[in-house]
Amino acid sequence: MAVRDILKMGDPRLLRKAKAVTQFDTDELHLLISDLLDTMLAANGAGLAAPQIGVDLQVVIFGTGARNPRYPQALPIPTTVLVNPVLTALAPATSDGGLLEVEDWEGCLSVPGLRAIVPRFSCIRYTGFDQYGDPLERTVEGFHARVVQHECDHLIGMLYPMRVRDFTRFGFTEVLFPGIDAVSDD
Ligand code: NI
Repeated sequence: MAVRDILKMGDPRLLRKAKAVTQFDTDELHLLISDLLDTMLAANGAGLAAPQIGVDLQVVIFGTGARNPRYPQALPIPTTVLVNPVLTALAPATSDGGLLEVEDWEGCLSVPGLRAIVPRFSCIRYTGFDQYGDPLERTVEGFHARVVQHECDHLIGMLYPMRVRDFTRFGFTEVLFPGIDAVSDD
């Protein structure tokens, strides 16, 4: 149980494709999840992926509890451990046959001090397992769907700046949102 250092963008370990977990309910997996939770809590994060603390495994955690000071307007997301996740976009179809995406501000603990508008699918289903190997399946939308897509991107070496399409809406949090975010690093 420890707060671990969070790797920052530029570290090649953030660009790896993470390996699937093959053994559940092990001391190593429980320790990893305990460290992820401690680290996310200490950083006021809404989610954290194992690669962000240098662990090359398909494990993410997310959740906002009752209220997250970094995302005060968002509906609460239950604290969730998700191992070996699979995401399916369920967003409504658009007129050109694509899937509806929504844009909103995003930050990342591995990209401190910055925010950008990032397009994400509006509705997804995710499946996977908890740390005991019990299956998990949820259909979610809105901020919950956004957080899961962001965290699972970390497992394929994607950081949110790679998803940005409009770089006029990418900047420093303290400049974009003066005063509002003064207490948080990101
Ligand atoms: Ni992130």
